[in-house]
Amino acid sequence: MSTSLLLLLLLLGPASSTCRFRIPPHEQVARVARFIAHRCDWASMATVSTHSPVVGQPFSNVFSVSDGPPGTSTGIPYMYLTRMEISVQDLQVNPQASLSMSLAQTDYCRQQGFDPQSPLCAHIILSGSVLEVNGTEAEFAKKALFTRHPEMMDWPRDHDWFFAKFNITQVWVLDYFGGVKTVSPEEYFQAPPHRKFH
Ligand SMILES: *[C@@H]1O[C@H](CO)[C@@H](O)[C@H](O)[C@H]1NC(C)=O
Ligand SMILES: *[C@@H]1O[C@H](CO)[C@@H](O)[C@H](O)[C@H]1NC(C)=O
Repeated sequence: MSTSLLLLLLLLGPASSTCRFRIPPHEQVARVARFIAHRCDWASMATVSTHSPVVGQPFSNVFSVSDGPPGTSTGIPYMYLTRMEISVQDLQVNPQASLSMSLAQTDYCRQQGFDPQSPLCAHIILSGSVLEVNGTEAEFAKKALFTRHPEMMDWPRDHDWFFAKFNITQVWVLDYFGGVKTVSPEEYFQAPPHRKFH
């Protein structure tokens, strides 16, 4: 193989990986939101603190999330939680919370040269509350989380882990200039995140 052909192949490599990060058109706001919610493996979650000296103040913390195994997006962020955890203690008093996820957590924004605070580096804020799930939904949550966060299987058994979902009441999307856009839960759940587009 000639050196120039090899060089060409090397140059073509990144182009195909950029393709994997091609997001839905920005005007299809609900689809963009579903895309981000599926791509991100973790989220910042703000609760209303119950802990001194910041009682009543916002408290933002990092959580591993999954809305389904890769390629199986439900749009519902599932979490694996323990009541020993500081933010979960807040949720026991007030389950209302806010979750934010950004394509800055993927390679997309770096590859495109978008600063995390730029609306072009698409990000979402979910309003709602955190609810424990049981039965078949807990089984699904387990599959969703453990496929994408395998080390969860080995987390200490005596911590009484449980599965929870973020019950979305409003979706806020920053994916382009012109200010934040809102998406209702109905629009969000109806949007197809995986359909092919041109
Ligand atoms: C799941 O079970 C817990 C504990 O029994 C209960 O508090 C919670 O409301 C249940 N969640 C659902 C969605 O049924
Ligand atoms: C869950 O979210 C829906 C909207 O998607 C809302 O109508 C419902 O009241 C929420 N449930 C709880 C327990 O917060």
